[in-house]
Amino acid sequence: MARARPGAATFEAPPNIALVKYWGVRDRALALPYNSSISVSLDRLRSRTRVAFEPSLEADEVEINGRPAGGGPREAVVKFLDRVRSLAGTSAHAVVSSENNFPTASGLASSASGFAALAGAATRAAGLTLSDRSLGRLARFGSGSASRSIFGGFVEWRAGARADGQDCYARSLFGPTHWPELRDVVVLVRGAPTKAVRSQDAMQATVATSPYFGERQRELPGRIARIRSAIGARDAERLFPLVMQECDSFRWVCETTRPSLDYLTATSRAVLARVQDENRAAGRPIGAYTHDAGAHVHVFTLRRHVDRLRRSFGEVPGVERTLELRAGPGARRVGDDRALRARGGRSRARGARARSSG
Ligand code: PMV
Repeated sequence: MARARPGAATFEAPPNIALVKYWGVRDRALALPYNSSISVSLDRLRSRTRVAFEPSLEADEVEINGRPAGGGPREAVVKFLDRVRSLAGTSAHAVVSSENNFPTASGLASSASGFAALAGAATRAAGLTLSDRSLGRLARFGSGSASRSIFGGFVEWRAGARADGQDCYARSLFGPTHWPELRDVVVLVRGAPTKAVRSQDAMQATVATSPYFGERQRELPGRIARIRSAIGARDAERLFPLVMQECDSFRWVCETTRPSLDYLTATSRAVLARVQDENRAAGRPIGAYTHDAGAHVHVFTLRRHVDRLRRSFGEVPGVERTLELRAGPGARRVGDDRALRARGGRSRARGARARSSG
C-alpha cells in the first residue's frame, strides 16, 4: 500500500445486478455476509464521486446529486471517511460530491456504485493506492454489494468461512467482454416506491424471522456452482432458469420475513409473469427475470430477443420505459473535470434515458 500527500481524486463506478443475492450479514462489525453472491456490473450507468481532503475544514461536506446530504446518507459517508482516515493516518476532513446518471434509491443499486466510487476516490485522495481486492474489502463497509462494483463484468463476492473475514472478498469471474450477446433489459416501473427500510436492516430481519432462511442457505452453494458454470459456458438455456429460481428464493425469504418485505408493485409482478409467458411461447427460456430490493425488474436475455421482449414489456400497464444494458467496466479513476455522461449520452439527466423505449 503506497502513500502520498492527501489531495483530491475522482472515481466512477457502475451499479451491479445480482444473479445470486447477498441477503444476510453473519458479522456486522466485519461486514461479512452469510452467503457468496454473483453479479454483473452494468455499462452506461455510473456514480461519479470526487473527494478532496482539506485540512482547513472543520467537518466533512457531502453533496449528493447537487444537494447537500443530511441524515442517514451523510452519516454513512462520514463513517466511511472515518475508516479511510484511520487507514491513511490523517484527521483531515473532506469535501465529497457524488452524482448518479440514474435515479437514486430506485432499485438500481446506487448504494453499490456510490460506495465503490467513494472507496476509490477517498483512498486515492488520502494518498493510498489499494489493490482492487482491498478496495472491494473496504467498499463493503459502505454497502455489501459495493464490493462487487469495484470489478467489471461478472463478479463473485466470496463469503468465506473464517471468523476474521480473511477469506471474504470480491473477485472477477469473467471480464465485461466474456459474453457479448448477453443483455440486461431493465424494466422501469412507474411509481416505484423508495425504500422504506434500508437493505442492511431488512436483511437482518429476514435472518431473524424468515422460516426459510436456513433452507435458502443450504440450497445456495449448489446453485452458485451451477450459475458460475453456466456463465462460463455462455449457456443461456442453463443459466436463465437458475437466475429465476434464485430470484424466487430471494423474494420468498423477503415475503416470509416478519413484518413482510414486499418490494414489487403489481406492474413488477406482471413483468415477471410476462417473462414466463414469453418463455412458454418460445418453447425455451429466452429471458430470465430478477430484481433487487426495489420494484424495477431486470430481464437477462440474448441480443436477438431484445426487441421482442422490450415490445412485450412495453404493453404491460405501468411500465415507464425499458433500458438495454450490457456488462460493463468496474470502478476507475477519471479526470476531475470530466462530465458524467452515459455512453453516447447527452446531458446527465438524459443519460439513463438513452436507448429507452416508451
Ligand atoms: O449492498 P446492500 O446492503 O445495499 O444490499 C444489497 C442487497 C441486494 O441488492 C438485494 C442483493 C445484492 O446482492 O445486490
